[in-house]
Amino acid sequence: MRGFIFDLDGVIVDTAHFHFLAWKKTAEELGLELTIEMNEQLKGVSRIDSLKKILGWAGKEIDQATFDKLTTEKNADYLAYVEKMTENDILPGVEPFIREIKSKGYPVALGSASKNAPKILEKIGLLSLFDTIVDGNSVKKAKPDPEVFLIASKNINIPQEECVVFEDSEAGVTAANAAHMISIGIGSPDNLGHADHVFENFTEFSTEFIVNLEPKVK
Ligand code: G6P
Ligand code: MG
Repeated sequence: MRGFIFDLDGVIVDTAHFHFLAWKKTAEELGLELTIEMNEQLKGVSRIDSLKKILGWAGKEIDQATFDKLTTEKNADYLAYVEKMTENDILPGVEPFIREIKSKGYPVALGSASKNAPKILEKIGLLSLFDTIVDGNSVKKAKPDPEVFLIASKNINIPQEECVVFEDSEAGVTAANAAHMISIGIGSPDNLGHADHVFENFTEFSTEFIVNLEPKVK
């Protein structure tokens, strides 16, 4: 494998928990208690689609102005958590892994649904490690659509079947599989069972293991 694409939230940093806390508050305003199980279905999903799902669960319909107000408030709450982040919030093993991949001369891409991705990477000091950043500002179709990963593979000039995607979300693993890329789930097999391999974190496998994986489609 020659191209390496990383999701951000829940793979490089534990912002997944901050998204959960912020959406939990929005859900409460709509009379819904957001559970951990529901939150799994929000991971990797764009801001707009996340609120649509929450409204569906709450059985509520709101006008566009209220919708915009709720997403704006949610993002402000989320950014208040992000503001306090430092490089100590980088998840175990991921930074050495990316540096080793880069030292072998392979390109590294970010493939995230977040519109806050560059801000977060800057905050944790990893912005300069990425050869391309494909985020919520540059895609039309959100995960589970494969668009974000297909653009990333094009930007790093590596055929999609020679790319590996690291993902913590159900929607993201589905998107990577749809792109015919190797999907590495970071988290639990309970909800990432459709990934090609699942690990708890980046300390559990070597760069050799990943680089030597065979493409699914030749
Ligand atoms: C990531 C997270 C989602 C989040 C989405 C949009 O994929 O896993 O929970 O909703 O990005 O993030 P944003 O920072 O643009 O609201
Ligand atoms: Mg994620």
